[in-house]
Amino acid sequence: MTATPAGVPEHPLGVKVMDDDHAALEALLRAAKALPDDALPSALEEISAEVAAHFTREEEEMRAHDVPVLFCHMAQHKRIIDLLAAARGLVEARDSARLRMFLSVMLPGEIEAHINSVDRMSARFMTGDLAPAAGDELRLPERDILSLR
Ligand SMILES: [Fe+2]
Repeated sequence: MTATPAGVPEHPLGVKVMDDDHAALEALLRAAKALPDDALPSALEEISAEVAAHFTREEEEMRAHDVPVLFCHMAQHKRIIDLLAAARGLVEARDSARLRMFLSVMLPGEIEAHINSVDRMSARFMTGDLAPAAGDELRLPERDILSLR
C-alpha cells in the first residue's frame, strides 16, 4: 500500500462505505509501520476492532443491495478476522518482529487482495456496473449448511 491523500483509498470502488472505511483502514496500517515495538499490541487491537466494524458495515450495505454470493464474501471476511485473532499469539509470545511483519506486510497484502477481488466485484454490482442478471447465475444458497438449519 502506498500513501494516498487523507480520506482517499488506494483502490476507489465507488461505494462510499467501502471507500471511506478502506481509506481509514489504510491510514491505520500505514501509521502502524512507524510505531515502536511496545505500541504494536495496542495497534493490533485497534486495527482488529476497525476491521471488524468495517466488515459489519460493508456486509450491511451488501445485504441492502442484495449482492450475490454474499456468503462467499463473508467467508473471506471471516478468514481475515481469524488471521487477526491468530496474530494475538504473537503478542503473547512477545514476538515483536513477526508482529511487525504481520501488521506491515502480511495483513496489508491480505486486505489489498480482498479489496481488489471480492470487494471490487461486489462494488460493481452495487454501482450497477454489472447487470443484476449476471448475479443470478452466481447465486449460491444463502444459508449456513454446517449448522443444518
Ligand atoms: Fe469485503
